[in-house]
Amino acid sequence: MQIKSAVFNMSARDLQSAPDWNRPEFAFIGRSNVGKSSMINMLSNKDALAKVSATPGKTQLLNFFVMNESWSLVDLPGYGYAKVAKSEKINFNESVGDYLEQRDNLRLVFVLVDSRLTPQPIDVSFVSWLVDCRVPFALVFTKADKQSPTKTQATVKAFLETLPENLAGIPQVITSSSKNRTGRIAILKLIEQALAE
Ligand code: GTP
Ligand code: MG
Repeated sequence: MQIKSAVFNMSARDLQSAPDWNRPEFAFIGRSNVGKSSMINMLSNKDALAKVSATPGKTQLLNFFVMNESWSLVDLPGYGYAKVAKSEKINFNESVGDYLEQRDNLRLVFVLVDSRLTPQPIDVSFVSWLVDCRVPFALVFTKADKQSPTKTQATVKAFLETLPENLAGIPQVITSSSKNRTGRIAILKLIEQALAE
């Protein structure tokens, strides 16, 4: 699939203020600093569409981007970032939770996991929550440029072993590097398939 246009639409602080449209949406979620915003930029072929920062907690709102004038990417605030004021953190977690559970036009969630780490409890419990809520998701192991493919594969294997038993089938798994632009075609292919369904 070719990306012909990628345009920022709006930032929303909760589901109620999200855009009122029925474009199919694809959301990116994962721990703070895992590379969600970088991935949106890679997919868009634009360096600065979504704000990237070395400091965790950069993305604080739900950010909506319109792709090819017909579907949307959503950059969600990361979870597991302790320095955000507690009230704010709970608020954002709730907003993300509401969005993931209730957004009717959400087609697929890309859960980003750092390819360098052994399974982190917060990622494991988040995925388990998605499974309970029956939200369709794919797993993306990020920053694969930072280590050998063998180590990345070991991370993937260990993570898959943590998946809950009530999961119907193994989710799609993609390894990526926003630096080297790997994983881009595989992600766009999943989006294209979901759009065709
Ligand atoms: P929050 O918005 O804070 O939740 O973070 P995020 O998940 O959006 O991460 P972001 O894209 O801002 O990237 C965080 C840091 O990781 C930045 O310094 C990026 O340059 C770096 N980074 C992201 N993806 C990659 C990657 O694939 N490879 C490498 N080497 N660095 C990456
Ligand atoms: Mg971000």
